[in-house]
Amino acid sequence: MARTFFATMAVALLLSGCSKDPMLVSGQDVFTKYCATCHQQDGKGISGAFPSLYDSEWVSGDKGRLIRLVLRGMQGPIVVKGETYNNVMTPHSFLTDEQVASVLTFVRQEFDNDADKVEAGEVAVVRASLTSDELYIASELENLLGIPSLEIPE
Ligand code: HEC
Repeated sequence: MARTFFATMAVALLLSGCSKDPMLVSGQDVFTKYCATCHQQDGKGISGAFPSLYDSEWVSGDKGRLIRLVLRGMQGPIVVKGETYNNVMTPHSFLTDEQVASVLTFVRQEFDNDADKVEAGEVAVVRASLTSDELYIASELENLLGIPSLEIPE
């Protein structure tokens, strides 16, 4: 039963991946599957439980922080648009570099955000730099900015 379900899902995923603009459309797919449960399909979240991604400094601000947040998840307290959230965002390290890049490019260009895209290579570098898979504490993550240097030391 479960096997048939996963096989069907795999075929559906393969089919839905064909012939589309790789970044935005697949980003929307990833969003619908993995983020909308909490942040809602319209990105507005649920007041008091899941913060809005609209016009969000977390979304359109530093990319390194945003990638870390998605890979390792985070727990509050955090203040978004004047409202305090003290909840848990689960880690999404099971997503591929391409999926993280496309979903973040999508949210950075939707929901009244207007920021540049995120590349799969940037996700790979941040992922490789992580030394733990524990949830970030929001106040700790707030200051973890930037994509680590892409240069390979000699
Ligand atoms: C299980 C529910 C859940 C899922 C799934 C989830 N989030 Fe979150 N997210 C949260 C919660 C809760 C917070 C606030 C955490 C806190 O209280 O510290 C948050 C915070 C955020 C923030 C920072 C605050 C803001 O509103 O800008 C961003 C950005 C974000 N999530 C993006 C995403 C993206 C992108 C995905 C999908 C890859 C995702 N989230 C999936 C629950 C979730």
